[in-house]
Amino acid sequence: MDNWKVDFKATAVSAKLSGWAVLAFDQLYSQRLLNVLVDEHHYGAIWGGIPLISCDVFEHAYYHKDGPARAAYIDNFLKNLNWSRINDRFKKFVK
Ligand SMILES: [Fe+2]
Repeated sequence: MDNWKVDFKATAVSAKLSGWAVLAFDQLYSQRLLNVLVDEHHYGAIWGGIPLISCDVFEHAYYHKDGPARAAYIDNFLKNLNWSRINDRFKKFVK
């Protein structure tokens, strides 16, 4: 879990200026959970991937509160995940 968080945070921090960090289940190809960066709205998205967690890292998501401290915003995002709902989503959509 700690390794996953480090990887998810690195994924989110690496967005150029705007994008989404997504934990997705790659249903069509690898059958694995993957952290991916979807830069802007489309670069890097996984065809057929099932998003389980999406972190908005467009500047408008954090700049008004955290200024340029994107990493602090992502830490707070990770602390506030509702794992029960994420688990429900996994059970409902991942076959
Ligand atoms: Fe947004």
